[in-house]
Amino acid sequence: MQILDGKLLSEQIKAELAIEVDQLKLEGKKVPHLVAVLVGDNPASEVYVSNKIRSCEQTGFRSTLIRRNADISQVALLQIVHDLNNDPEIDGFIVQLPLPKHINEEKITLAIDPKKDVDGFHPVNFGRMAQGLPAFLPATPYGILEILRRNNIETAGKHCVVVGRSNIVGTPISILLSRKGFDCTVTLTHSRTKDLAGEVRRADIIVAAIGIPNFIKGDWVKEGAVVIDVGINRIVDTTKKSGFKLVGDVDFDAVAPKCSYITPVPGGVGAMTVTALLMNTMKANQKEIYS
Ligand code: GUN
Repeated sequence: MQILDGKLLSEQIKAELAIEVDQLKLEGKKVPHLVAVLVGDNPASEVYVSNKIRSCEQTGFRSTLIRRNADISQVALLQIVHDLNNDPEIDGFIVQLPLPKHINEEKITLAIDPKKDVDGFHPVNFGRMAQGLPAFLPATPYGILEILRRNNIETAGKHCVVVGRSNIVGTPISILLSRKGFDCTVTLTHSRTKDLAGEVRRADIIVAAIGIPNFIKGDWVKEGAVVIDVGINRIVDTTKKSGFKLVGDVDFDAVAPKCSYITPVPGGVGAMTVTALLMNTMKANQKEIYS
């Protein structure tokens, strides 16, 4: 069994991006500029956004954090999005989710110019991705593809079972793995799937993205399977100073001995997600997706 080290891979990719940034500077060109909009004080969002800003600093990207109180009106937030869409100094931006209940997340996402949508959440990017056209890919699926690609994991003709059908992970990774280049045969499973354990048992590649701690059990996994664990779940751990620890959607101790490769939590897919956002921001800067 081999651990797929997302942290190490993300450091490698960030080092590659930093070289590209240095080259842009040498040529007197603008470095990539990412803006993050953070509304309210959700603790998980605070952590995610500060990781994004820190990763920008590490790689030499410009970054700007726009913070607003949770009581900002939808109109005022839409105005911020509009201004960012029209600011030529900004290559890409994200509005961190979740947003307060009085704000319609769909409206905000739809207001983002697809050319600056480095989260890949806008339906234009989703549609382009589904048709195999150049698109900003959502960060987590993009990170998973890079883990598979850069570890030379064979995907063609393999049976991939995705557990969970969210718009930002399960559904897009199902589409991406089934497309030319990855060529998997994909089964997308969810809460209404009959005999979920039986479906997972047939998988050569398992992508677990259901958001339930330790959900995938040891006896659900075929010998030699590749296991990609997308879950980041906090569970109580009184031995930790913080009072919690992070676990994935896969029962790691029971599953790891059976598989050929597995991503750990933390240090697997999660570590790659921020790096994927930086890769998208570099693509926005280079006008690689939209000219
Ligand atoms: N909330 C949790 N993950 C994400 C993400 O990737 N992007 C944004 N904008 N919000 C999130």
